[in-house]
Amino acid sequence: LRTYPLRIIIAGAPASGKGTQCKKIAERYGVVHLSTGDMLREAIQNGTELGKTAKQYMDSGRLVPDDLVIDMLKRRLKEEDCTKRGWLLDGFPRTASQAQALLEAKIDPDLVLVLDVPENELIQRVVGRRLDPITGRIYHLQYSPPEDEQVACRLIQRTDDTEEKAKIRLEAFRTHIRAIEEQFSQVVHINGNRLAEHVFWDIVCEIDQVLGTFHEADTNLQPFG
Ligand code: AP5
Repeated sequence: LRTYPLRIIIAGAPASGKGTQCKKIAERYGVVHLSTGDMLREAIQNGTELGKTAKQYMDSGRLVPDDLVIDMLKRRLKEEDCTKRGWLLDGFPRTASQAQALLEAKIDPDLVLVLDVPENELIQRVVGRRLDPITGRIYHLQYSPPEDEQVACRLIQRTDDTEEKAKIRLEAFRTHIRAIEEQFSQVVHINGNRLAEHVFWDIVCEIDQVLGTFHEADTNLQPFG
């Protein structure tokens, strides 16, 4: 059905389930999943100049300066996999300036999804989250525990996944989300406080509606001659 690559933004507070949903969306629709958090953590791991600067901000739960993140993301979006397969932005834009930078570069999303989850639930999710460094899979000690002892033994916790830092991250989200939403016309809120599978099916409905619009536009095309 698709007539041009799908472009989606997914926003939400820390631990609202963006990463969990993005894995499923990328698998189903073939879009490139771009998490600015993951890209920055990779830069830290590789010891780049960007990584060194970003680390100071991320370890304390603060946002990395706009210019650094905008530059990193704009360069990545120009790569062939993104232009051909479309993209799914996870954790970007996080400020009005980041949203404006996208629009100024004529990078306009088809859909902006915002996951809504109450604050007390977010904190539970943050402190229980664990990551598998080998597969990249996201677990939760209570809600989505590892399948066996071997996986359980290798799980790691992010340095910013403490209650104290989660509160700082949450405050950054609250400060900026309204101004970000105002930049886009195609914003849809999804109740993220349900089983991940249920959240996903609501997302699928929204994306399929967008794909249906592409299809309609396509069938409205008049043949030549
Ligand atoms: P980033 O990595 O983007 O973190 P975040 O936005 O705080 O989001 P999280 O990764 O914490 O959560 P998530 O929504 O992906 O939830 P997940 O699916 O893992 O950013 C980290 C830092 O990088 C920022 O603080 C900042 O410093 C910097 N940064 C990144 N982008 C930036 C930008 N654009 N500008 C400036 N700075 C930037 O789920 C969480 C847990 O809940 C998991 O354990 C999961 O198993 C569980 N879970 C998920 N869904 C459900 C469900 N439905 N029910 C029960 N449990 C669930």
